[in-house]
Amino acid sequence: MRAYENLLFQADNGLGIVAINRPGALNALNAATICELGRLLDELSKDDTIKAIILTGSGEKSFVAGADIAEMQAMTVIKGRNWSKSAQAVLNKIENLPKPVIAAINGYALGGGCEIAMACDIRIASDKAKLGQPEVSLGIPPGFGGTQRLARLIGKGRAKELLFTGEMIDAPEAYRIGLVNKVVAPEELMDAAKAMAKKIMSRAPVAVQACKAAVNEGLDMDLDSGIAYEAEVFGLCFATDDQKEGMAAFLEKRQVHFSGK
Ligand code: CAA
Repeated sequence: MRAYENLLFQADNGLGIVAINRPGALNALNAATICELGRLLDELSKDDTIKAIILTGSGEKSFVAGADIAEMQAMTVIKGRNWSKSAQAVLNKIENLPKPVIAAINGYALGGGCEIAMACDIRIASDKAKLGQPEVSLGIPPGFGGTQRLARLIGKGRAKELLFTGEMIDAPEAYRIGLVNKVVAPEELMDAAKAMAKKIMSRAPVAVQACKAAVNEGLDMDLDSGIAYEAEVFGLCFATDDQKEGMAAFLEKRQVHFSGK
């Protein structure tokens, strides 16, 4: 794994822990960080020793406080569009990574920070976290997929309220509206994220991948097409050793040992 300027990476028994690390800017995402994250995701995607990923922010105050406002201030129309597209491509990599990705939201998740958390599969927040899409206060809409993922995650009406008002919400409110899956005390955040990751890692990896692909792909389809897609991935899993092992272990009333094949 190469050294990164604005990211910290740690491998822990098959779990890859990535922390956005720009302490001087509350982990705001500048172009260099987005570029590094894209490269790291490409490496993690190919690394068979890494089975699941936790994405967090370094320090105690912030997950990611958005895109870097200083860097965006003088952008032209063309630069703004390209910046949006290049960051969207990196967030799409998170969403489409063939491994589960959990956001451990340790503080501010604003603008691009909320957007990067929404690109993850599951979000666990510290009870000190604050989330929101404050872009309209800066004269822009979200540009890292926020208008699309927020509405898909919490519904059109609630999404528009957060997008139009630009207001921050606290973690319990984010939980209430379905923006985060779980809220825990700050000191329990990483343990909670690791426990969730380990539980997922104990299941059949190809079946977990099938669930991820079916939910992601299916949400962009009509119901009949989504159901048909599900039948395909369901059928494909019968070609895996893990299907044979999972069902044999159940019927033989013994512990299961998945190989990931
Ligand atoms: N970009 C650049 N720098 C940022 C930043 C950002 N998004 N957020 C914080 N910082 C910097 C501050 O400028 C400050 O730097 P200096 O110490 O050099 O002055 C440092 O981080 C600490 O920030 P504050 O002093 O503001 O800390 P605070 O505790 O008073 O406030 C905060 C915390 C409420 C998160 C506040 O920093 C804030 O509102 N940040 C901006 C949040 C925001 O608007 N995010 C959306 C960005 S736009 C976007 O993301 C667009 C998109 O979809 C692509």
